[in-house]
Amino acid sequence: MTTSRSIVIGVGGGIAAYKACSIIRRYVEDGHHVRVLPTKSALKFVGAATFEALSGHACSAEVFENVPEVPHVRIGQEADLVVVAPATADLLARAANGQADDLLTATLLTARCPLLFAPAMHTEMWEHPATRANVATLRERGATVVEPASGRLTGADSGPGRLPDPEEVAALGQLLLERPDALPRDLEGVRVLVTAGGTREPLDPVRFLGNRSSGKQGYAVARLAAQRGAKVTLVAGTTAGLADPAAVNVVRAATAQQMGDAVLKLAGQADLVVMAAAVADFRAKAVSSTKIKKTGAEPEPIVLERNDDILASLVAARNRGELPADVAIVGFAAETGDERGDVLFHARRKLASKGCDLLVVNAVTEGNAFEVDENAGWILAADGSERSLAKGSKAAIASRVLDAASALRAQHQVD
Ligand code: CTP
Repeated sequence: MTTSRSIVIGVGGGIAAYKACSIIRRYVEDGHHVRVLPTKSALKFVGAATFEALSGHACSAEVFENVPEVPHVRIGQEADLVVVAPATADLLARAANGQADDLLTATLLTARCPLLFAPAMHTEMWEHPATRANVATLRERGATVVEPASGRLTGADSGPGRLPDPEEVAALGQLLLERPDALPRDLEGVRVLVTAGGTREPLDPVRFLGNRSSGKQGYAVARLAAQRGAKVTLVAGTTAGLADPAAVNVVRAATAQQMGDAVLKLAGQADLVVMAAAVADFRAKAVSSTKIKKTGAEPEPIVLERNDDILASLVAARNRGELPADVAIVGFAAETGDERGDVLFHARRKLASKGCDLLVVNAVTEGNAFEVDENAGWILAADGSERSLAKGSKAAIASRVLDAASALRAQHQVD
């Protein structure tokens, strides 16, 4: 359960204003106190009654309502987080200029908490030098301006400028509540390759061997890397129906072999590879081209053969000079202790055998790792250093992993 915080949702006047409703609902369901500040134009798209019913509070665009309560000062002062979604080109311009001509922009000046802008506009407007300058100004002042998603815009055109999935915006805001400094632009220009999800090893046209990976942790790494400025490719296996993260190039891979082929091909253009996928160690030796029938009393045994270890193959390719020597390689391990040793004992052995630079370790026995939204564990480094990861959202864990990878790259550059 998350701690209840005070969140202001600013809504700009764009067609994506209706998506703010999902963000409001998500925060209210999480137990937060939500105030909605639409602009006058936003109220042309979604009525005040909708925002008021969803948030449980009156909403207004006007500075001159409830004057005795001095809302233009108080709402900002009391906020723990302000999320502006959608942030239109006009709203970004007014915020960058420090205007205070409605309740939302006045609040943006009085708030001292993290500010998150989720832009949504046509590609031409997003790419216009005026908007680029406004985004740069807001970022320089410490605000987070989210990279928009690419895809279908209003009408028939498509390109960067779509509001990211509301769940993604909500998760980024939640992360800023946990760690206000979690989204620096420190990965600008860094090329990051991430794998996520499970693999499906077919048995016949309708059946497969799979695993419980939801893909949430790897998606969080990809999403955050993109929002920290990196150029991200995500090789995605099977997931729990997750939406593509904004500003991330998503490549699908169903089986371990397909994932291995994609990763080894793409790793040559990467500065950092994060292997968060749960890759099947084995596949069926023979895949039936027709559906296997339950003939006879006893089932036929399934004979397995090994899949290549993608992580170990990456390290081997780097050692042979087929990948740049400074590409940083991060593995993940979900471990349980057993009679031979505890989680860390197995994790240290795995780090040594895989030869990667960092290993992110989750202890499966403590209710972490699979199909849940929180994780905890350790990050082990090849130089023997170890740091623990306090229990937190998968986004918070992802931000720590990227911090460690970023520090490692900086270290490589010094060496
Ligand atoms: N991995 C991989 N290729 C495989 C299996 C695993 O690249 N065929 C990667 C995973 O993406 C992860 C790391 O290796 O980053 C650890 O995965 P895990 O399944 O825990 O390791 P295994 O080597 O399979 O060890 P175990 O014997 O515990 O199953």
